[in-house]
Amino acid sequence: MKRSVLSILSLTTWASTADAGRLWRATRHGLVPDAVTPNAVPMRRHELKPTSAQTGPGSLHKRAANRPANLTNVHDVYYIIDLEVGNQIIPVSIDTGSSDTWFVKEPYECVSFWWQGPNVKPDCGLGAGFQGNPSGGVIDNIPFGRAYMDGTFVEGYYGYEDITIGGITASHQRIALVNYTYWSGDGRTSGLLGLAYPYMTSLDGPLQNQPPYDPVFTTMWKDELIDPLFSIALSRHENQGAGEGTGIQEQSYLALGGLPPVEVDEASWERTPILGVNAIPEWGFEEKDLGLYIIKPDGWVYGKESVPLVVNNTQVPVLIDAGATLSLLPRHLVQNLYAAFDPPAKYLSTNGLFFALCNATVPKFGVIIGKNTFYFSPDDLLRQTARDPSGEYCRIGVTDVSGGPYVLGVSWMTNVVAVFDIENTEMRFASRTKY
Ligand SMILES: *[C@@H]1O[C@H](CO)[C@@H](O)[C@H](O)[C@H]1NC(C)=O
Ligand SMILES: *[C@@H]1O[C@H](CO)[C@@H](O)[C@H](O)[C@H]1NC(C)=O
Ligand SMILES: *[C@@H]1O[C@H](CO)[C@@H](O)[C@H](O)[C@H]1NC(C)=O
Ligand SMILES: *[C@@H]1O[C@H](CO)[C@@H](O)[C@H](O)[C@H]1NC(C)=O
Repeated sequence: MKRSVLSILSLTTWASTADAGRLWRATRHGLVPDAVTPNAVPMRRHELKPTSAQTGPGSLHKRAANRPANLTNVHDVYYIIDLEVGNQIIPVSIDTGSSDTWFVKEPYECVSFWWQGPNVKPDCGLGAGFQGNPSGGVIDNIPFGRAYMDGTFVEGYYGYEDITIGGITASHQRIALVNYTYWSGDGRTSGLLGLAYPYMTSLDGPLQNQPPYDPVFTTMWKDELIDPLFSIALSRHENQGAGEGTGIQEQSYLALGGLPPVEVDEASWERTPILGVNAIPEWGFEEKDLGLYIIKPDGWVYGKESVPLVVNNTQVPVLIDAGATLSLLPRHLVQNLYAAFDPPAKYLSTNGLFFALCNATVPKFGVIIGKNTFYFSPDDLLRQTARDPSGEYCRIGVTDVSGGPYVLGVSWMTNVVAVFDIENTEMRFASRTKY
């Protein structure tokens, strides 16, 4: 008797501690706390070797971002998920900086650019593509096309097919089939899963201002298969997906309709609204439509560990972009960060980016959201796996840009669980416990 009362008590205590910091969200069923979902899909992290001159897969920010000159091999980390397309499995990289889902369709034409010379054999580095015809038919009069800032592009047409991720099927989903491309991958993926809002599907491409359509995730929640939210946990460990020697905490996840099963500091949960595309002045949008995951952090914290940290409360809009390896932030802010490395970071013109000695002392750098500061880990600020040719200098995970859009990419996202809540137009973050 006594024992069972005690165990009930301890269970209750445990449950309330676990929920202590959880934020509640409005749903059509009332207020609920975020909960771990069974529809969390493990992702594979892939890192391009530093010697290869390849860029990672494209995301829309590549086209839109205001970037420094020599950004070869900048987006060298990406996260791969297996899409079930009809009855075929197609590996794609995930991207919260665009909305289309596309993959190559066999046979497709891979081209090289004239500036690569006549003797360069085109090699797009794409994996096996979709075979046959999409079961829902094709759309005749709307060509698909996207061009990215690094010169890569994809062209093709649209069709309808069932897309399944983690047991959830977006039926008769509009997808883009690519049959003509200049790309530079390394064979691990055959396309992209765009997780942003429908609005972005109407931009760019050969026919500008097309009517938007519902991307995969939008179809899933509109069909009431999941709550209108997804969350992402990106791990900094290279791993190969479910059950291959990595623990739950080291795994990366895309979780549909709830949280991924990784541990977070429950007291650290914070929320912040998602802003319309007009929040980024450099884009010149007048409309307030929701397009990408734009938030305005409450400030920035940086400095050497030994001295009091500096707080800068300037608010700038940033994109939360799982398709970007680095974080791209305002020049003056980042220059203070570079200077806080000991010895200070320096610009290597051969790479067009800032590097520091791999054994440098790494400063603190954090993003203030609400009452919490979400720090970059030293491993992400000074990336031991991304070295210059001498092997002595390591790449800094944050780069400076002279104007927006600013980006919090993989180098920051590996430190948090990020909840993308479409129903409440807000993002929630919690710090991950050490993994
Ligand atoms: C790609 O598909 C479109 C639409 O069917 C077609 O017009 C075009 O010729 C194809 N391009 C290639 C390179 O196969
Ligand atoms: C604070 O950060 C903003 C950008 O976020 C930057 O423009 C400004 O120069 C910084 N202020 C100081 C004092 O470093
Ligand atoms: C770009 O890289 C080349 C060498 O690859 C270097 O000569 C040039 O100075 C770099 N440009 C910039 C703007 O850093
Ligand atoms: C750091 O690395 C540099 C270059 O590899 C080396 O010359 C220096 O002695 C190292 N410093 C320390 C404190 O280990």
